[in-house]
Amino acid sequence: MTTVLKLGGSVITDKSAPETVDADALAAAATAVTAGATDPAGELVVVHGGGSFGHHHAAEHGVSATEGTDDAATVREIHDAMGRLNAAVLDALGERGVPALPVRPLSAAARDEDSTLTLATTAVERQLGEGFCPVLHGDVVVHEGAGATILSGDEIVAALARSLSVDRVGLCSTVPGVLDADGDVVERVERFADVAEAVGASDATDVTGGMAGKVRTLLDLPVPASVFGSAALRGFLDGDRPGTLVAGPNVEE
Ligand code: IPE
Repeated sequence: MTTVLKLGGSVITDKSAPETVDADALAAAATAVTAGATDPAGELVVVHGGGSFGHHHAAEHGVSATEGTDDAATVREIHDAMGRLNAAVLDALGERGVPALPVRPLSAAARDEDSTLTLATTAVERQLGEGFCPVLHGDVVVHEGAGATILSGDEIVAALARSLSVDRVGLCSTVPGVLDADGDVVERVERFADVAEAVGASDATDVTGGMAGKVRTLLDLPVPASVFGSAALRGFLDGDRPGTLVAGPNVEE
């Protein structure tokens, strides 16, 4: 059983101030990881977003998923900021006994000209096999013909779900799920059209574009993915399917 969990950047950081960890929220998430029924040693891969770390530096330099930079100092600035957040996540997990280790996408992933992502997953697989808990993060990655662009944690989750044998995917965000036009949580999404009106149409390539981009990415996965808020994190790790279940046409249930 392998579970992939994304902790959204806005769940673990304070987005209003550059490079600020939301220490209480991070502690609560790390505690849920230790307390849940999913064994974080060998059964769990954590991916975290950028929050006030990556996004802040990326915005400052105009770097996005589609707008690249060929300035190595800028690439390192964004990557180093994500490294500081990654270290905070590893510390929060490690302090609670989770054998968490970093896997840093800049050195393990690349995009080709049409934005197709290749992510080397041997290190992740081996870490799991040896009872570690790999912790990846949204990052900046080298992109053929564009220098380097932003790779979201959601895309990493998707890449992992495709190349590892993953049983469960969860995205912990600041909202309790995909919301309909009345603000209620939609239980299940099988087609983008089910929620297009509520989440707003987004360009299919806009991978960091809020809930619409998230839903599109998750609809492509071979496994169902749950989107839920931080209050439901423990339940998800215990095996529940809180929030919204996104199960696209590639899912065999
Ligand atoms: C963004 O990752 C990574 C960088 C900006 C370097 P995400 O797009 O997954 O981050 P959140 O979860 O929205 O903050």
